Amino acid sequence: MGNSKCSILVVDDERINVALFTAQLKSESYITLSASSGEEALKIAEREHPDLILLDVMMPGMSGFEVAERLKSNGSTKNIPIIMITALDDRQTMIKGLQCGVEEFLTKPVLSVELLLRVRNLLKLKKYQDLLAAHSIQLEEQVAEGNLRLSEAQEKLIQSEKLASIGQLAAGVAHEINNPIGFVKSNFSSLKTYVADILDILQQYEAAEPLLPADSPAVQKLKVLKASADLPFISEDIQQLIAQSQDGIARVAKIIQDLKDFARSDSNPTWVTADVLGCLDSALNIATNEIKYKASVVREYGSLPEIECLPAQLGQVFLNILVNAAQAIDPQSGLGKIVIRSGQQDDEHIWVEISDTGCGMSDAQLKRIFDPFYTTKAVGVGTGLGLSISYGIIQRHGGNIRATSTPGEGTTFRIELPVRQAETQET
Ligand SMILES: Nc1ncnc2c1ncn2[C@@H]1O[C@H](COP(=O)(O)OP(=O)(O)OP(=O)(O)O)[C@@H](O)[C@H]1O
Ligand SMILES: [Mg+2]
Repeated sequence: MGNSKCSILVVDDERINVALFTAQLKSESYITLSASSGEEALKIAEREHPDLILLDVMMPGMSGFEVAERLKSNGSTKNIPIIMITALDDRQTMIKGLQCGVEEFLTKPVLSVELLLRVRNLLKLKKYQDLLAAHSIQLEEQVAEGNLRLSEAQEKLIQSEKLASIGQLAAGVAHEINNPIGFVKSNFSSLKTYVADILDILQQYEAAEPLLPADSPAVQKLKVLKASADLPFISEDIQQLIAQSQDGIARVAKIIQDLKDFARSDSNPTWVTADVLGCLDSALNIATNEIKYKASVVREYGSLPEIECLPAQLGQVFLNILVNAAQAIDPQSGLGKIVIRSGQQDDEHIWVEISDTGCGMSDAQLKRIFDPFYTTKAVGVGTGLGLSISYGIIQRHGGNIRATSTPGEGTTFRIELPVRQAETQET
């Protein structure tokens, strides 16, 4: 150990002793500090953090024992080793010193060689202690980081298992509903034409009514039936009912399409090299109508390399996040802001962030946003599939998606993507 780097505080009320010890220590290139009282010693120790303290026991005012006790009970000075120098070569003093936490003793008259040896040994010990402490801090940090990684991996695993099992369920349900909805949809369009034809014929019969013999029992019966059925109302309402049902069926069909997208596991996707910012811009174009009355969009694009990806699917992810951002902004509270940033994380990864000044989310909400069918939106507004589909897509790309949010302030989604896909890409 280079002695010149070690500093030693000499505490003695007698200047001659201080001078003597200092000279001996300097001869070995130690840096020396000195204090002539206990109070001064405490101040210097706290300010300078010397590597070792030579402490006289008999001093006026604060004794060496008290100084040692105070140093050892102060978190910032407790690890500084102390050599207590005493004229009293008796066991009582040593025991009291040990009780105060003193590491070593030297009795006056102090031999220079003994002083230097004890100092050197204690400094060596301190060095190992410091190394050990630094090592254990490093170890603790590594363990903490390992734990964090583990819990992240666990969360990902749970999420992907959840997605996989719900994906299967969704695929099954989508498949089962798809056929009946298909024929209901096509039947309804036939029904619409048939009903239009029937209403047409009815109108013709109605027009011909004055030409029929009014006293015929059949005509009488027709008049009664017509009055009780309220034909004008039925003719109008039946068309509305058909239109509404067709609308409902279209909505169900859209949900089924979403479910199919969600469950889709394209076993052989075609990876292409594409410009992510281009995908972002086209998603922005599609979402314009959702966004334009609610928020201004700020693009802070950092340049990105082209990446190997499934551009249509990435576009879908960006669209989902942008639409969510717009939906989170309350137009009553003035124009909101959506900021889109991008950048290169390292040679192999890029990132995109989309922030909004919307309603934000609580931690409890944040934990669930990637769960399929989790939505806080009104029936008909959201199905709660947007983010779970997005999660699946980013996972397929070997990337990461996560959100941070402050209720009442806004939300930021961050997506990280690899520039290149592993050769054996799992899907
Ligand atoms: N930017 C955001 N700000 C606040 N809440 C958000 C934001 N993005 C998502 N959320 C919350 O996460 C939920 C799930 O979002 P997700 O996109 O999966 O479904 P959705 O938007 O409700 O319905 P869908 O996207 O299927 O139409 C939302 O209902 C909302 O509560
Ligand atoms: Mg959504």
